[in-house]
Amino acid sequence: MTQPSPIVALHGLRLTRGDRTILSDVELRVAPGEIVAVLGPSGCGKSTLLAALTGELPPAAGTVEVLGQPMPSGGRALLELRRRIGVLLQGNGLLTDLSVAENVALPLRTHTDLPDVLIRRLVDMKLHAVGLRAAADAYPRELSGGMARRVALARALALDPPLMIYDEPLTGLDPIASGVVMSLVRRLNDTLGLTSIVVTHHVHETLPIADRALVIANGGIVFAGTPAELERSDDAFVQQFLRGAPDGPIAFDAAPRAAGAVA
Ligand SMILES: Nc1ncnc2c1ncn2[C@@H]1O[C@H](COP(=O)(O)OP(=O)(O)OP(=O)(O)O)[C@@H](O)[C@H]1O
Ligand SMILES: [Mg+2]
Repeated sequence: MTQPSPIVALHGLRLTRGDRTILSDVELRVAPGEIVAVLGPSGCGKSTLLAALTGELPPAAGTVEVLGQPMPSGGRALLELRRRIGVLLQGNGLLTDLSVAENVALPLRTHTDLPDVLIRRLVDMKLHAVGLRAAADAYPRELSGGMARRVALARALALDPPLMIYDEPLTGLDPIASGVVMSLVRRLNDTLGLTSIVVTHHVHETLPIADRALVIANGGIVFAGTPAELERSDDAFVQQFLRGAPDGPIAFDAAPRAAGAVA
């Protein structure tokens, strides 16, 4: 049986910030329809990996292919590829003086010249998909944290991207809202035929909806496998990370934010 062509293919990838190598020798293939959880301690390079997937950070070595094409280095080709990647960042980035519906409409107004009546219909569908049709006329300040995250999710879906990237989608949410958002991630992935990459340190909330998990530590991928394999892993890095233990092979101070701050 032939494998479907991957949605993401990273080969021999090295990512640097300034002259510091953040990740090296990254190999990854994400198949259509998969949800891949990217786990790892703070500062290990999760967001840096995402920056490579959106073409924001060009690789220092190796190759990045997304949605069947090599990552363009810039220009129109890069902008077009980015339109096909839905990104939900940690801050919701909702515009406070626009209603919920207007926030979701924004990418459609910016990137298409669809007539207003159609835009409104599409916005209605996206809000329906996240269970917030009734909130269309509300303003972001009137929403709970979980609702605001779902509006941001509807907006990320506005242009029907085949690939969704989530960076810490649960930050600041209580356990109930976290459960709602995570099950929504799975449901949208499956009903809309998406592929999703979810960066998080919320291991226990994320593993149940993930097909595969990666653990990043000490400059590379230290584990790749199913959530069940992750739970069973006797790898010391993985165990330390899952248990949240301060002592172990993941150095507590492995990646200080301000390089050189510790003399
Ligand atoms: N724009 C940047 N310029 C320089 N260094 C950066 C930049 N962004 C990140 N870094 C450094 O790269 C390393 C990895 O950062 P990254 O943000 O990818 O970590 P992370 O795994 O997403 O962490 P967190 O869980 O806290 O979000 C950190 O040491 C960070 O200081
Ligand atoms: Mg991050």
